[in-house]
Amino acid sequence: MDLLLKIWRQKNNAEKGAIQNYHIKNIEPDMSFLEMLDVLNQQLINGGDDPVAFDHDCREGICGACSLVINGAPHGPDKSTTTCQLHMRKFKSGDTIYIEPFRSSSFPVIKDLVVDRGAFDRIQQAGGYVSVNTSGNTVDANATPIPKPDADEAFQSAACIGCGACVAACKNSSAMLFVGAKVSQYANLPQGKVERKERVINMVEQMDKEGFGNCTNTGACEAHCPKDISLDNIMKLNQEYLKSKIL
Ligand code: FES
Repeated sequence: MDLLLKIWRQKNNAEKGAIQNYHIKNIEPDMSFLEMLDVLNQQLINGGDDPVAFDHDCREGICGACSLVINGAPHGPDKSTTTCQLHMRKFKSGDTIYIEPFRSSSFPVIKDLVVDRGAFDRIQQAGGYVSVNTSGNTVDANATPIPKPDADEAFQSAACIGCGACVAACKNSSAMLFVGAKVSQYANLPQGKVERKERVINMVEQMDKEGFGNCTNTGACEAHCPKDISLDNIMKLNQEYLKSKIL
């Protein structure tokens, strides 16, 4: 496959970026999208040019490190698929592909296609955990029976990999699908109920502090989420927040 890549290049957050064109040849359909970018970077390095910076880690759809807006869609054209699991057979020879970073003022560009998603870490640190007493009285997790429907619902929320595609897809740069998934994951489990009130209030406060917008129910986050996190998580977030404020 021969392709024209139109890639966002930006030295750092202080300088303006721009789209640059790259022609690339002999790409195998079975390569992953990131392997295609590896081939491009090797060519750039061989020619003495600066390789394109992009985020990645596991390359198997579980860590949430990869990002990229591909032809206008966070994680590209395949539904329920991370950028690292997208394959070049989805494109055809002669295609032009636009590759840009996840865009949100709460995710400042570090370089090229790499953005700082530290805002998500700070939201997690504000309440996305369960405190445990480790002074010798810790209850074995299996000793707490959990109804199967609750466990299943918590598991579905826990599938969120925190990649930030929901923010990149939302016209309001809302992080409510991410925060909703993290809050719901614990709200459905007995272990999470102890810190239930402080958790949701602290996480929402941090979300607002980071400058994310509000949800206006367009559903773009759900449509582009590589892990199919449902909008129900936003409903649950609103319920939890309201209950914590009034009860
Ligand atoms: S690199 Fe880990 S999910 Fe894509």
